[in-house]
Amino acid sequence: MLHWVQIEYHLKGLLNMNVLSKETVEAYREYGFVQIDDVLSPEEVRELASYMEEAMVQKNEHAVNQDAPGGSYYRVLNQKVNVWRDHGGMAQFSFHSKLARMALELTGAEGIRLFHDHALWKMPQDSKPTPWHQDFPYWPMNEPGALSIWIPVDDVDENNGCMMFVPESQKKGKLTGIDFLNPQDLFEIADMKDMEKDKPVKVPLKAGSCTFHNGLTFHYAHANLTDRPRRVLAIIYMPDGTTYSGQPHQMTNDIGLVAGEPIKGPLFPLLAKK
Ligand code: SIN
Ligand code: NI
Repeated sequence: MLHWVQIEYHLKGLLNMNVLSKETVEAYREYGFVQIDDVLSPEEVRELASYMEEAMVQKNEHAVNQDAPGGSYYRVLNQKVNVWRDHGGMAQFSFHSKLARMALELTGAEGIRLFHDHALWKMPQDSKPTPWHQDFPYWPMNEPGALSIWIPVDDVDENNGCMMFVPESQKKGKLTGIDFLNPQDLFEIADMKDMEKDKPVKVPLKAGSCTFHNGLTFHYAHANLTDRPRRVLAIIYMPDGTTYSGQPHQMTNDIGLVAGEPIKGPLFPLLAKK
């Protein structure tokens, strides 16, 4: 059974209408992140969860596994990047037109391209949080604007790895990439020790609800202290026209991109446009 929110999204998509309210778009632009409930129906959540289970164990042709033998060796998370390239079911979700349309509306871009996707699993008893970081410093892009959708297929709270964000931290601009295994203090780097003022917001979510966050927004995910995995699909979108910086990155190394030119081509499909 489709939830009414999905029916509304679907109808608006068919009519080429905006799927997000003005308030949602304004909140994203002001605070650097936004929560959107029920973006996937319960059926879609079940389908995505089963595809993720397959994708996690399948042999990689193109996807890149970033865990270590024996599970989450570092006890932070297991991640597989570029999952869509090896699993058609995952590709359906990473190319999901309604989700890309939301990214289009949030950014106000003329078009939205896929940069890559991630299966982000915190395994049972992954005892370390994902440290405070910005995503943008890791991406080989000149202009900020790229963003992530983060969709859990399990309910999440502070016991199994929900996210936290610092409102308006995107306004700090690009800082240093943090070493996940030996993390520096992002707040010290940003000279933001006043946590009363820069209060992080914890975002528990139901499976199938999501957050979007700007690549510059400070974020963190709690450890998973439960005995079940916390399974998340994250999709990284970039505004069409975003140019390549030449900085090394596993998605863009050795594929003939030219620094200063737009990142485009078959590995970065246009998923939504105005
Ligand atoms: C996580 O899921 O643990 C981290 C996600 C992110 O850094 O965007
Ligand atoms: Ni991140």
